[in-house]
Amino acid sequence: MDQVFTQSGPLAGTVRVPGDKSISHRAAMIGALGRGTTNISNFSSGADCASTLSVLRGLGVRIEAEGGRLAVEGIGGKGFAPERVELDCGNSGTTMRLACGMLAPFPVELVLSGDSSLRKRPMRRVIEPLELMGARITPGDEQGHPPLALKGTGPLAAISYAPEVASAQVKSAVLLAGLGADGPTCVTEVAPTRDHTERMLRRAGVEVRTRGLEVTVEPAIPSPFDIFVPGDFSSAAFFIAAALMRPGSRVTVAGAGLNASRTGFLDVLEAMGARVSVSAQDVGEADEPAGDIVVEHGPLKAAVLGGRDVVTAIDEVTLVALLATSAEGRTVIAGAGELRKKESDRISGTVAGLKAMGASIEETADGMVIEGPVELRGADVFSSSDHRIGMMLAVAGISASGSTKISGWEWTAISYPGFAEELAGLAGGDGR
Ligand code: S3P
Repeated sequence: MDQVFTQSGPLAGTVRVPGDKSISHRAAMIGALGRGTTNISNFSSGADCASTLSVLRGLGVRIEAEGGRLAVEGIGGKGFAPERVELDCGNSGTTMRLACGMLAPFPVELVLSGDSSLRKRPMRRVIEPLELMGARITPGDEQGHPPLALKGTGPLAAISYAPEVASAQVKSAVLLAGLGADGPTCVTEVAPTRDHTERMLRRAGVEVRTRGLEVTVEPAIPSPFDIFVPGDFSSAAFFIAAALMRPGSRVTVAGAGLNASRTGFLDVLEAMGARVSVSAQDVGEADEPAGDIVVEHGPLKAAVLGGRDVVTAIDEVTLVALLATSAEGRTVIAGAGELRKKESDRISGTVAGLKAMGASIEETADGMVIEGPVELRGADVFSSSDHRIGMMLAVAGISASGSTKISGWEWTAISYPGFAEELAGLAGGDGR
């Protein structure tokens, strides 16, 4: 499906974004592992989280859903009774990787499959630690791609594991498997990644200790809990970027998640001289920080980012590249090789799309170099079948002269159905 965007005037008003995708996946899975009813409000409306629900239902978990409200009837992992041999994770890497960890301690035998994008994504990173714990997971090919044939062998051996990549999905898979291990399971990260699993497990009464880069979980059956999922910061980021791209804009994103392990984008924006303010309240270590983000258009300057800046802004790096096209100077993004292993190769997709629109942007092995400022011009571009590339190009489209046609727009429903309408609402300045 194609979607056309034309240059917009200033953006104004308040927007609320769908519930956080990462938190929604975890709430549903950890709720399912408990025994009793977990109530989730503002569950993500994206197709990825629907994939998690479909996998859980396929395991025999009853889930009542009405709008963003969910009641998950946890049956404890031992109650998992797969109705089918093959469970489809769709486009969702989080569903597949976390499900491997969630299922590993239980005597299930099934196949986790996915769409053509998911079948290209690396799974060795979760297979290796889970096999060390005693699970059996056979990938679809020698490179470790899905589908994954999983054979839970019963209680697992606790391990201390240090993943090579900074990945919240790997950490989470090991921690979830650790719930069914014979002692404390420890993950030591190379850089701090999003800590939603740790927070959610604590909320479910599980003992989780964090010391620097080390996280330890004790074996446990999670208790049922209630949670309101904050707005997805990664979705909010598109509106933040849109306001920074369009002169005269002032936009508020209300009720967005502001977990510091997710908001590296805000630090990059500060370095670029952007006018962004946040009002986050203090919360406990079992809760998720959330608040309002207010952003005003103003001149931007180039930034240099790499290492830990990239980890806490991993899903927003494509937006940094877009903003760099309107910033004064040379922006250098390095240490972002993981972007090539997302739903698409996000380095190539970003460079191809923005270059077609007149940007001065080059790809490197692990990042991008962008010279600004340039005037973007409308073009025919492709989402790369990737929700985040599609929405980044939409923000480019409302900033460029002429009109921009984005093909593969349907992929944006992976995290944000209705994004185009919300963006148009802000451009109309109707103050929604
Ligand atoms: C996610 C972790 C990140 C992120 C993805 C969601 C999660 O992936 O890019 O969108 O929910 O744990 P990695 O763990 O591969 O870095």
